[in-house]
Amino acid sequence: MSNKTILAVETSCDETAVAIVNSNKQILAHEILSQKEHKTCGGVIPEVASRAHMNHLSNLIESAIEKSNLDFSSLDAIAATSGPGLIGGLIVGTMMTKAIAHVTKKPFIAVNHLEAHALVVRLLYEVKFPFLVLLISGGHCQFLIAQDVSKYIKLGETLDDSLGEAFDKVAKMLGLDYPGGPLIEKLAKNGDGTRFHFPRAMIKRPGCNFSFSGIKTSVKNLLQKLEMNEQDICDVCASFQECISDILLDKVNKAIAMAEFLNIKIHDFVISGGVAANEFLRERLEKQINLNLFFPPPHLCTDNAVMVGWAGIERLQKNYTNSLDFPPRSRWELEKILP
Ligand code: KG4
Ligand code: ZN
Repeated sequence: MSNKTILAVETSCDETAVAIVNSNKQILAHEILSQKEHKTCGGVIPEVASRAHMNHLSNLIESAIEKSNLDFSSLDAIAATSGPGLIGGLIVGTMMTKAIAHVTKKPFIAVNHLEAHALVVRLLYEVKFPFLVLLISGGHCQFLIAQDVSKYIKLGETLDDSLGEAFDKVAKMLGLDYPGGPLIEKLAKNGDGTRFHFPRAMIKRPGCNFSFSGIKTSVKNLLQKLEMNEQDICDVCASFQECISDILLDKVNKAIAMAEFLNIKIHDFVISGGVAANEFLRERLEKQINLNLFFPPPHLCTDNAVMVGWAGIERLQKNYTNSLDFPPRSRWELEKILP
């Protein structure tokens, strides 16, 4: 098959990102602007995020084209994250890419953000279908079996907060900026993870659903009793990470057992999404899981357009393109995506 090149845009949350990727697994341009506007707000403000996407997207596209030494006519398709995510940002990215696709007469590809997180490892490593995926991000927390491009089985998911949300909410209670995950990881390095015990929610239950809201409440109750000096904060961060790693490990084993029960032979296991950038969790899971474990490098775990470009390439190779009336969608379950 001849080499195909894609321009891809990511605007589903607070990263405005553009990439150019080809089917020879080369990243020809990778532009990313992480919005600073939300830093002190404890979370992303949708209206502020969409305005920032509007202000920056066209410059980033121009700069990506310039850095790749290509022009629009040498592209084979244009892709955008079209869901799930914050609808304002999705509209900005999807409309911009549709306009480019229309003017250049190139196919448009509506990429599901979760599929992009799940497939990006295949740009870097030989990961073969079917494989198991644990997706841990700011918006999602779920186990999937990736059977093929566009073909997923969900094994379990969070019943309340996503794991990234749990990190961000605990960080906010500790007076830390958004996004809280990387800051908790940093402070935990100087903390004692055995000092506090938070509930290992759901681990006595069968299945691989998660619940993180109880841990959040437990942290909140503890903080009311603490003086909150520097050491206390570090110990809370380390104990929180200990708790999360115990839960993930328990649920990973249950997900593996579920795949066996479904008679699906799994050799490879991919952990992706923003929280998968956490080195502590990566090391813990690496030591204790008996499958071939793959993590994207940290900068491709958090939101980026390279993963959107790669998912676009995988879809283009199967001729899964979309018409220009494809509506962006804030909710878009991965098991329901169509070829
Ligand atoms: O995948 P992502 O960039 O956006 C979504 O698709 O949601 O994930 C963002 C989430 C945030 O909640 C952030 O706090 C968390 O990923 N995160 C981390 C780390 N880096 C980002 N959580 C824990 N440790 C990290 N090093
Ligand atoms: Zn994401």
